[in-house]
Amino acid sequence: MTAEPLERPVDHHERLTGPGPYPDTLPLVLRTAREADLPELRRLDEEVFQEVAYPGFLLRQLFDMYEEHFLVLDDGAGRLRGYVLAATRALGRDSWILGLCVTQDRRRHGLGRELMTEVLDRLRRNGIEVVRLTVEPANLAAILLYRSLGFRPEEPDGGLRPDYFGPGMHRQIMRLDLPGCP
Ligand SMILES: CC(C)(COP(=O)(O)OP(=O)(O)OC[C@H]1O[C@@H](n2cnc3c(N)ncnc32)[C@H](O)[C@@H]1OP(=O)(O)O)[C@@H](O)C(=O)NCCC(=O)NCCS
Repeated sequence: MTAEPLERPVDHHERLTGPGPYPDTLPLVLRTAREADLPELRRLDEEVFQEVAYPGFLLRQLFDMYEEHFLVLDDGAGRLRGYVLAATRALGRDSWILGLCVTQDRRRHGLGRELMTEVLDRLRRNGIEVVRLTVEPANLAAILLYRSLGFRPEEPDGGLRPDYFGPGMHRQIMRLDLPGCP
């Protein structure tokens, strides 16, 4: 299973740029993650996910395993503003989204959708037929984004899995079936 490296500007320039080239207004590039991104990826993951961020060693190994499906938003000034990570099975046609985020200052500009759309497209082109993810049941922003992309709760119980990540850490499982490539 392969996927070409990706690097393209994100076409949300007019909504993201202000009067000058300040770090918070620079146009973003959506590209495949690189090994050199790991320290910044770790910082970003901790900034967004805090106590449930991936430990550094795990992030490293996820990168080693799933590099082709690890995409970042690069502001060109040394900061990553978002990432998405999908994991595939060696024996099977299903996959899991293991991480998605956009920094607080860049939310509601279509970037989460952009990351998801790109990774789903790459998964589909690589023959993946089913994509699953877990989401905190109260995370409305993420649930609405996933629903708008076609994800639905995976039954039973409306996808709800109490204590899925440990005591009190309930999650909802959502699933998307990808149409095959023509
Ligand atoms: C979830 C997240 C990635 C969304 O990123 P984003 O770039 O703000 O999302 P988008 O601008 O692409 O929004 C796409 C759709 O998601 C929904 N959405 C996103 N944020 C929303 C919010 N705060 N309230 C309601 N709906 C929201 C809307 O349906 C939106 O479509 P619309 O703009 O046409 O209404 C971002 O909020 C985030 O990083 N959250 C913290 C980390 C996280 O929860 N990750 C998911 C873990 S499962």
